[in-house]
Amino acid sequence: MTKPGNFEWENLYKNMKVTEMPWYSADLDNDMQNALDKLGLTSGTFLDLGTGPATQAKKLADKGFEVTGVDISEDAILLAKNTYNNIEFLHDDILKTNLVKKFDFILDRGCFHVIDVDKRQIYVQNVFNLLNESGRFFLKCFSTKMPETGFGPHRISEQIIKDTFEGFFEIEEIIDTEFKNDKNPRTPKALFIIMKRRRNI
Ligand SMILES: C[S@@+](CC[C@H](N)C(=O)[O-])C[C@H]1O[C@@H](n2cnc3c(N)ncnc32)[C@H](O)[C@@H]1O
Repeated sequence: MTKPGNFEWENLYKNMKVTEMPWYSADLDNDMQNALDKLGLTSGTFLDLGTGPATQAKKLADKGFEVTGVDISEDAILLAKNTYNNIEFLHDDILKTNLVKKFDFILDRGCFHVIDVDKRQIYVQNVFNLLNESGRFFLKCFSTKMPETGFGPHRISEQIIKDTFEGFFEIEEIIDTEFKNDKNPRTPKALFIIMKRRRNI
């Protein structure tokens, strides 16, 4: 992966099988599953932000949530629509979102950490706007416990999370974890964060 902001998301899903992608996980992310269990969540509207292979959207829909999956890659959305025809998928860039409806929950598994640092405030404002009052935001990203190589996703520290999100969200939990996937025995160090949208900012 080149620098995150310059990555060719548009073409990736045309040229590579989703099951070969390093983030591919047929199962629901284990941290997301634990959060649903802990919070007792079983229904509501869910946005899967940067849905990619759409496995997370599919698993959430199977559990009874009303899911919308969005991605900046048109090819990812076409593929997702063809694979899971009972879920709403939309082509959308979170930095210039055209979404109008609001959601009870948002999952971002692997999108925020590829957003350019100078665009993070736009991202946060848009995620805030897309959540219902007191809605929850679940975020999984690479952590600073992963060695920096100059390539790939940004490494995110707890301090970055606090500095970026605290004005808009109450940070309920920051969990040190890993990015489990089906393809790669390497499991990148990650953070999983549970946040609640503030009512007013
Ligand atoms: C690391 S992949 C994770 C995919 C999926 N969430 C999963 O867990 O399998 C990141 C995804 O974010 C999407 N993405 C990147 N920038 C985006 C943006 N600005 N708006 C929406 N999606 C974006 C990419 O196309 C890619 O599918």
